[in-house]
Amino acid sequence: MIPILDLTAQYRALKSEIDAAIARVLESGTFIMGPNVEAFEHEIAAYVGVKHAIGLNSGTDALHLALRALDVGPGDEVITTPFTFVATTEAIGIVGATPVFVDIDPVTYNIDAAQIESAITPRTKVILPVHLYGCPAAMPAIMAIARRHGLVVVEDCAQAIGAKVGGRTVGTIGTIGCFSFFPSKNLGAYGDGGMVTTNDVALADRLRALRVHGGRRKYHHEELGVNSRLDEVQAAILRVKLPHLDAWNEARRRIAVRYTESLTKVAGITVPAEPSDCHAVYHQYTVRLAARDEVRERLHKAGVQTMVYYPVPLHLQEVHRTSGQAGAFPHAERAAREVLSLPMFPELTAENQDTVVRELSAAVQVGATA
Ligand SMILES: Cc1ncc(COP(=O)(O)O)c(C=O)c1O
Repeated sequence: MIPILDLTAQYRALKSEIDAAIARVLESGTFIMGPNVEAFEHEIAAYVGVKHAIGLNSGTDALHLALRALDVGPGDEVITTPFTFVATTEAIGIVGATPVFVDIDPVTYNIDAAQIESAITPRTKVILPVHLYGCPAAMPAIMAIARRHGLVVVEDCAQAIGAKVGGRTVGTIGTIGCFSFFPSKNLGAYGDGGMVTTNDVALADRLRALRVHGGRRKYHHEELGVNSRLDEVQAAILRVKLPHLDAWNEARRRIAVRYTESLTKVAGITVPAEPSDCHAVYHQYTVRLAARDEVRERLHKAGVQTMVYYPVPLHLQEVHRTSGQAGAFPHAERAAREVLSLPMFPELTAENQDTVVRELSAAVQVGATA
């Protein structure tokens, strides 16, 4: 089976360095929020290009604590996309605010900036774009809307570390950027991990307190916080990996170009389009197909693993049943029926990629002549 993702390839390539980094942590006896976490925070701040980066337990916590730090709570509305992983809206719900969905741009699968203004109400506090599949949302337009209406922008960068839009790195454009180091991400830990980035010193200070039970001094607690600490083993692993991230992202881009060159010629397949002002990092390479589920089944039988991110848009999930009826966000609903993500990881070989292209072309053609 050609896997959609192979996490062992990176480990094999960096094994001696990673093993040594883990051993050093074990020998140091410092396991939580020690020198590796602090150094990794500085390294991510420098990599992304912000003043402050705060290590957390997950991308979900990054989103939820970002909203907490901005005092978003009951009665507030947060505008976001219905076509994302549930963590985005879960974070909104955790702070007691209400997600307000805006349909996606059917080309980029990201929130359609042109429809945001009509969703703004006096209760709107935040716009929360997601850079889905590693392709940045339309940040210049979103920031202009936020400025016009006095709104804050929080970026969900979980799938897009290193991506750029309008010459700027994601996570530096809104007030807070939220990152995930879940193992499958472009920069993945060997467990959970997350990070927030900001240039705002007061927000950084509050986020640092929120992640350790709402206190700035041990056993002194100013507000309700959480336990969302990044651990030393994960930070040490991520520090070994970070210097390779740009090369890995470039490898993903090369694989994407190769897929697009071949698949663009196949009738019935829509390849992803990268907006001209964007530098996407292809967390996923996602095509669109009419008979998606049948094609997926044929590919599975042919030994090619694929995934559907995501089969049910969030407004149709039970948890968000009050946020929109079927038909409310037609582009998101259609995408949920048609998208298919293909094997994508920096170490994917040209030979395996050619097999994916061949089997996908065949699977689509069977459908067309059936
Ligand atoms: C778009 C998006 N937002 C948020 C998250 C949550 O990150 P985590 O799994 O680290 O909590 C993820 C990934 O899982 C994601 O893909």
